[in-house]
Amino acid sequence: MTKTALKPAMQHGEDAITLLTEDHKKIKKLFADFAKLAKGDGSNKAKAEVVREICMELSIHTQAEEEIFYPAVRAAVKDDELMNEADVEHAGAKNLIAQLEAMTPAHDDHYDATVTVLGEIIHHHVKEEEKEMFPKAKKAKVDTAALGAALAQRKHELQAERSEAEPPVKAKKAQSH
Ligand SMILES: [Fe+2]
Repeated sequence: MTKTALKPAMQHGEDAITLLTEDHKKIKKLFADFAKLAKGDGSNKAKAEVVREICMELSIHTQAEEEIFYPAVRAAVKDDELMNEADVEHAGAKNLIAQLEAMTPAHDDHYDATVTVLGEIIHHHVKEEEKEMFPKAKKAKVDTAALGAALAQRKHELQAERSEAEPPVKAKKAQSH
């Protein structure tokens, strides 16, 4: 028998690398939005709203990645240096996220700088993942389809936990113009 059994179709299956890359795009766009607000004298309210979203997206993304994606990649690619650096970058990002969550743009003169430095860490980190880690994971035949399903599920749970913990802001997010 040479034929392998067909895998059952993944339900709403998104490959892990596709899913994580889409998250990266979304997060990069949020940092770009913030940069525009910071340059163009955006209101503190608008800045805080973007930062809230950045912190939420990043926290969920990094936690799901650490719980599900990194262990599988670490076991398969055998590159501890690469994985350890990723861990340290995540820790650095978490530290800045915690700082930002305790800051307000009106009261902290290092608010914008903290967002900018977090953006730089993330930018560098994303580049390493996309240029090094993901290709190595693919080469090592990590089961990115199964991991994608697990990541999507875990992200969903973490989103639900977050929205229970902090109910959405009353004011409508939609901008009127
Ligand atoms: Fe990451």
